Amino acid sequence: MIATNVLELIGNTPMVDVSRLSPNPRVRIIAKLESQNPFGSVKDRIAKQMILQAELDGTLMPGQTIIEPSSGNTGIALAAIAQSKGHPIKILMPTSVSVERRQMLEVFGAEVIFTPGEEGSNGAVKRAMALAAEHPEWCFLYQYGNENNPRAHYTGTGPEILRDCPEITHFVAGLGTSGTLMGTGTFLKEHKPTVKVIAIEPPLGEKVEGLRNLDEGYVPPLFDAWHGQQLLDRKRVVRPRESIEWTRRLVAECGIFAGISSGAALAGAAKVASEIEQGVIVFIVCDGGWKYLSTGAYTDDLDAAEAKAETIIYF
Ligand SMILES: Cc1ncc(COP(=O)(O)O)c(C=O)c1O
Repeated sequence: MIATNVLELIGNTPMVDVSRLSPNPRVRIIAKLESQNPFGSVKDRIAKQMILQAELDGTLMPGQTIIEPSSGNTGIALAAIAQSKGHPIKILMPTSVSVERRQMLEVFGAEVIFTPGEEGSNGAVKRAMALAAEHPEWCFLYQYGNENNPRAHYTGTGPEILRDCPEITHFVAGLGTSGTLMGTGTFLKEHKPTVKVIAIEPPLGEKVEGLRNLDEGYVPPLFDAWHGQQLLDRKRVVRPRESIEWTRRLVAECGIFAGISSGAALAGAAKVASEIEQGVIVFIVCDGGWKYLSTGAYTDDLDAAEAKAETIIYF
């Protein structure tokens, strides 16, 4: 197949059996490799959907500037698409993200506006909201409240999972904007109501790349709009150290080089596997490991990597 442009290559990501990591021989664990998307993460899906829809409904006009808060993946995907379509783009990002994220944004031509690292992604969201209010001439896509974020998963990720793995019993993913869980989870439950949907959260006050704890003070509007409380069967807390350990196991034992939130989701999947009789758990590999190499998460001594996880922003 020859695609007419790179946007056509977003989605339809492969799934791979990693059951050798399952602590229960009667439970299979399957990874969905969102890292295979052309700009490197699950966020390619929502960036495409948000931009194309904004163009269609007239909220994004030719040449109009886009503004968005992002600690990385959404910004990278939006910037790649915006640049190819001739939209200038400004990304609000906390200072403490890994250097590779900033470099990727530069590659894709974004202007990066830094917000204080200690305020995390919430600080970037607040600043973006203030700037967007001051500049109504800019297009603010706002991934935390944009329907097209879960919609991309409802029409893409969910149907792909059910098509490729109809035997699924549990769906496990991290929660950032909640778009992946809301869109995919809603689709799966509508079509196979027995599927359990499980969110992975870092402990309060601790950080795992890409994820948030809902009790931390900001609940994404999408979570409430898509009835997150009712949709989620449960939440599992995964510590940064476990996330790093399972990210390392994924690459060492299965050859899958993934980002830290994937290790968190896998750690959660393993916990679920040890608690159930039998089943098939699907979890999301949100991105590859490339952007996190400088954090030492793969190569440093585990204690040092864990200590660093406290200071580098992880979302
Ligand atoms: C690496 C990574 N993992 C997980 C997530 C969470 O996905 P979502 O925003 O769909 O809840 C994000 C996004 O914030 C992310 O960048």
